[in-house]
Amino acid sequence: KASESGIFGKILYTEEQIRERAKELAKQISTDFEGEELIVIGTLKGSVLWMCDLLKELTIDTSIDFIKASSYGSSTTSSGVVKIKMDTDMNLYQKNVLIIEDIVDTGTTLTFLLEKLKERNPKTIKVCTMLDKPSRRTTGFVADYIGFTVDDLFIIGYGLDFDQKYRGLPYISYLQPEE
Ligand code: PRP
Ligand code: MN
Ligand code: MG
Repeated sequence: KASESGIFGKILYTEEQIRERAKELAKQISTDFEGEELIVIGTLKGSVLWMCDLLKELTIDTSIDFIKASSYGSSTTSSGVVKIKMDTDMNLYQKNVLIIEDIVDTGTTLTFLLEKLKERNPKTIKVCTMLDKPSRRTTGFVADYIGFTVDDLFIIGYGLDFDQKYRGLPYISYLQPEE
């Protein structure tokens, strides 16, 4: 629901702040992988906008790919059952792999994906998430590169959805219960 200003929800981070943070992290990643090639894997669907920002700022040679994990349903409790719904098509053997995620919540999705992708024997595998919500974690998962750490809010925009909507908002905002 739009407020008078045409903004959905309350803004947490503007596009400028997000792109600035992507620039900083891309610089760090480019330094960490200097002289190496990197396969950047976006997790569908949430990571696509953040992935674009990072890709444009990386100064090393990159290839891109995508992977989609099945959602484990909207009842947030711990079924812990994740599957790969759409797989990568690149061979990851002995490659540097960077998984791009929009948000780490319980950590279930990335714990699963990391375990699956490690079976393909990449040279290195790291995770860069736009948002980290540590208060919701039920696993020991820790991302290597984190854009912003957020409170336990209902976040939408910049890739994140509510019932598949709002992914295209050019900012990160949150909905309050009455919205
Ligand atoms: C959301 C989000 C992360 C995951 C985080 O994806 O984009 O991928 O959940 O939750 P977790 O840390 O508790 O596993 P979702 O499955 O809703 O798919 P989407 O990216 O297509 O929205
Ligand atoms: Mn996702
Ligand atoms: Mg979702």
